[in-house]
Amino acid sequence: MASIVVSGGRPLRGSIRVSGAKNAALPILAGSLLTKAPVKLENCPRLRDVDNMLAILTELGVEAVWKDGALELDSSRAHSYVMPQGPSKELRSSIFMLGSLLGRFGHAVCTHPGGCEIGHRPIDLHIKGLTMLGADVRETHGVIVCDGENLTAADIHLDYPSVGATENIIMAAVGAEGETLIHNAAREPEIEDLQTFLNAQGHEISGAGSSTVRIVGKRPVRDDVVVEHRIMPDRIVAGTLLCGAAITGGEITLTGTAPAHLGSIIAKLREAGCQISARAQSIRLSAPERPGEIKLIETLPYPGFPTDMQAQFFALCCVAKGTSVIVENVFENRFKHGAELQRMGAIFTQKDRTIIIRGVEKLTGARVTAKDLRGGAALTIAGLAAEGETVVENAEFIDRGYERLEEMFLALGADIRREG
Ligand code: EPZ
Repeated sequence: MASIVVSGGRPLRGSIRVSGAKNAALPILAGSLLTKAPVKLENCPRLRDVDNMLAILTELGVEAVWKDGALELDSSRAHSYVMPQGPSKELRSSIFMLGSLLGRFGHAVCTHPGGCEIGHRPIDLHIKGLTMLGADVRETHGVIVCDGENLTAADIHLDYPSVGATENIIMAAVGAEGETLIHNAAREPEIEDLQTFLNAQGHEISGAGSSTVRIVGKRPVRDDVVVEHRIMPDRIVAGTLLCGAAITGGEITLTGTAPAHLGSIIAKLREAGCQISARAQSIRLSAPERPGEIKLIETLPYPGFPTDMQAQFFALCCVAKGTSVIVENVFENRFKHGAELQRMGAIFTQKDRTIIIRGVEKLTGARVTAKDLRGGAALTIAGLAAEGETVVENAEFIDRGYERLEEMFLALGADIRREG
């Protein structure tokens, strides 16, 4: 397994372009099955999770090739709706394929994705929504079998604004006769990006980004015009880089980003004393030498504070002036980075989903282990500010969601490298 080795204490300086969004690319890749026309995706990030999704699509008969930085797909000869076990197990978000396979073939067979490092990740809301569209869904021996050749529109109320369930239901409803409404839909910007992509195929979806999404199914789609789409910028990569600058007293500019998606993140960084100015597609942050106190962070569905930024702010609060409270409302087991930060000198107490952090002047470098994607990013951020050398093991976790995080920080002046 590879490690990231960082010697702390250097303020980040400079400008960097933000990559395309992993959590937009993954459902959009699944949605490429919903057209027989050629697809061309610009700004698609090159990540382990994307590679896994492409492995799944290729097994189903989709042709995929990277050309001049763009990803070109052709699902006109897709021939199977049975997901391959291997990549599906590793990639939890392969569950998005249920909806797109149903929308394309009227059938889907998928390995139950199971839980992961941050929680047991149920899929009851996905199943309930697909069932309301008329699909017959059976789960046996860890395999989910869906049949729904004659899906019909439904009025679906989600008990919780689940991102994946919203995306799965949208993609299945594309193949359902009539007008489907999803109430209490997730409002994440990645869902708007999926809507834009599916409408570019000729489908008729509206309301993504709001709590009610409308899908008119069975629209006539053309298969003779290339469907082109540019993946939106990754708001979590942007937030992670901003945290790196904030924890090191640095001054950076992000380009190719969407400040409008970072409202709650920018608000918390300003609370920590950072000066932040935003233009249409760029953000400039100038941090104080030591972050100021952030009193409370509560993770919530968008536009609330994103759970995917909790770990990174946990690291930032460890060296802030004062005491911070972090409440993780979205996932039940997303504090594994805490024990590792403790090895670097962090001081905090935990009660269930609440952490109380007493900021210390300095963390000290240590050998730590990434237990999940965002926790690994948090440990790297802590290492940027810690005294001495930090080795973050299991860097492969970080590669799932960042195109070489260490190279991004290196470009901003950090003393950082990958080993192994
Ligand atoms: C998406 O996961 C993201 N992944 C996650 O990003 C992100 O943390 C999450 O949304 C929340 O924003 C992708 O988009 C690929 P959810 P998803 O369904 O769709 C419960 C990262 O680091 N729930 O909104 O799985 C669930 O247990 C990853 O990039 C049910 O109870 O998230 C959780 O508590 C991590 N039943 C909550 O909803 C269901 O059927 C949020 O889950 C589905 C979800």
